[in-house]
Order: sequence, then C-alpha cells, then structure tokens
Amino acid sequence: MSPAAGGSGRADGDDAAGDARTVEVGGESPYAVHVGPGVLSRLAAHAEPGRRVLVVHQQGREDFAREAAELLAAQGAAPELAVVPDAEAAKRVEVLAGLWARLGQSGFTRSDLVVGIGGGATTDLAGFVAASWLRGVQVVQVPTSLLAVVDAAVGGKTGINTAEGKNLVGAFHPPVEVLCDPAWLQTQPRADYVSGLAEVIKCGFIADPAILDLIEAAPERAVDPSLDPALALELITRAVRVKAEVVAADLTESSLREILNYGHTFGHAIEQVEHFTWRHGDAVAVGMVYVAELAHRAGVTDADLVERHRRVLGAVGLPTAYRPGRWEELRTAMGRDKKTRGSTLRFVVLEGLARPTRLVAPSEEDLEAAYAALSG
Ligand code: GLY
Repeated sequence: MSPAAGGSGRADGDDAAGDARTVEVGGESPYAVHVGPGVLSRLAAHAEPGRRVLVVHQQGREDFAREAAELLAAQGAAPELAVVPDAEAAKRVEVLAGLWARLGQSGFTRSDLVVGIGGGATTDLAGFVAASWLRGVQVVQVPTSLLAVVDAAVGGKTGINTAEGKNLVGAFHPPVEVLCDPAWLQTQPRADYVSGLAEVIKCGFIADPAILDLIEAAPERAVDPSLDPALALELITRAVRVKAEVVAADLTESSLREILNYGHTFGHAIEQVEHFTWRHGDAVAVGMVYVAELAHRAGVTDADLVERHRRVLGAVGLPTAYRPGRWEELRTAMGRDKKTRGSTLRFVVLEGLARPTRLVAPSEEDLEAAYAALSG
C-alpha cells in the first residue's frame, strides 16, 4: 500500500492555518484531519447560533477546553465543559453515565455536537457518548497526545472498558473533523510521547518506510517535538495518512484494518500480564519485535528486517525485550486476542517492508521460540 497514493487518504498539502497539513479520510463518512499550529480555530466552523456543544475534556487540559468554548461561544453556540478523569479512568460506565446525564439535562438534540479534547482515552469516551446519544450525534476530536492523533482519534473506533476487559463496549463512529496542534504534544511527558512513536513506527513498517528513514536519520530529534517541529509534523502527517488510507478502505475491520494491529497481539498480552501498568506503545514496540521474530521462524520475514525492528525502536528508546518466565501467561492472553478465530491464533506479519500479510496458526514451537528470542 502506498500511503501517498490516491483518493481515500490523501494529503492535501498546506492547510489554511500556516504550516498546518490536512489529510482527508475517505469512505462513507469522509472527514479531514488537520495537524498544525492554530488548527483549533477551525472549531468555529462547527458553531451555529444556539447549537449546544458538550466539550468533553481530560483533566489537565482545561486551557484548551476554555479556548474551544470561547471560539464556539463567539459564533453564538452554547458550549458546556465536562471534565473527565485522566487516562483509562475516563473509560468507565459511571463517567459515561455522567455525560449522558449532562446531555439529557441540557436537552441535547441530534443536531448538537460533542467535542473530545485529550488523549486517546478521552477521545474514545467522547466518541462513544456521541455515538450512543440519540443513536449518534456529531463529534469533533481534538487529540492532545501523539498516540491519540496518530491512532485513537482517527478512524472512528470509540468505546469504554468494563470490569471484564478493555474496549468491550463500543461503536464505530467517525468524527466530522480532527484537529491537532503539535505544540500541544510538547507538553506531554517525554515517555508518553516516545510511547506514541511506537504507533508511528508501526505505520512505517506496515505501509510507509520513509517514516523509518526519517527516524533513523535523527532519532534524538524524533523523540522531542520541541527540537524539530517540522520533523514532528512530518511524522504525524505520514502516520495519519497511513491510518486514513486503511480506515477509508475498511472502517469496521473486516479485513485490511487488521494491519493496524501489527505487534498488538503480543503487545496486548504484555499489557494484560502487567495489569495495564505498561504504556500501550511500549508494549506494542516489544510486540512488533516478537511478531517479527515469529514471522522469521515461519519463513516470512527475513533476518535483516527483524533486526531493523530492534534498531529503529531501540534508537528512540522504546523497549525491544521482555522478561523471561512469563510464557504461560502470555500465551493464554494471546489466545483471547480479538484476531483469534476459535482457538486459532492469527498474526499480522511482514513479508517485506510495507508488505503486510497474515500468519495463521503458527506452531507452538515457533510461538515460544519467538518469546525466547526477546526474553533471553
Ligand atoms: N488502533 C487500531 C485501529 O484503529 O484499528
């Protein structure tokens, strides 16, 4: 797949707001992702006199939420702020019910709007409240973390967690627009930004190797968006473009969208074994090394490509190894992966750079040997 090719996820070059970039996401409900300085001002276009807007924002992002509310109010809309807890604590049914109550109390109608401001957990929650209220109202996503802009906020996956697991309740509900100012990402803790780079690097492996070249050429600048804003903008745009092309072709993950889960089967298993104390991107980084090792043993991925995983991930400080002695737990957790069909494990693997395919039912011997290769 060429990320620059053709209609479904094309980059339209410079945006009206200075150096901003726009990626169009095609499909049945097309929308634009704007990334660059000043893009929040685009919110004004969603305001109409009297239109109610629930601005769902992550704790700690009050400044952006207030700015958004001022922009909307200046156009005559009626914004209300709703603060939600940080990270996964936002994705609880109690928080969702609180938002439904707010919508009910303010008489929210089908023509009103939800805005989600924050990291991926906030945009997942805001998207789901929009998907479920009156069977669907519009949502504008305003991601403020690298992980959210390159993954969670684009593509329309929304949802919450239950006591039984993550993202078990959800809906596909694409936003009407996504707005991200990379300056916001400079305020993220560095380790969170680097963790988000794992999803960017994943896009490099599955579809756009130029991402890998850019990172390998300047890893010390890639990890710090304040050192090289132009590089950050380029990496984000490229990763968003990859995601845009994939979700435009397969919103509901019937086939192609699975490639976005590269490295995620083992990554999710680590997250479970570690009781979700690992950052998602860190787990996915190890997961990509695991699946590359597995595919190498199955004769699909060559040794140089496996080594390139370790090189590029290691260059930005992402983990490429995992502790020994946890195979039984990891294997059990992988059996619960969403891509599993019955008891058959399925993995997205690479037959070459940017050439994803599937590996179905690898041998137990290969599965365990791939773990040994990164835990030895
Ligand atoms: N995070 C994978 C997807 O959006 O499909």
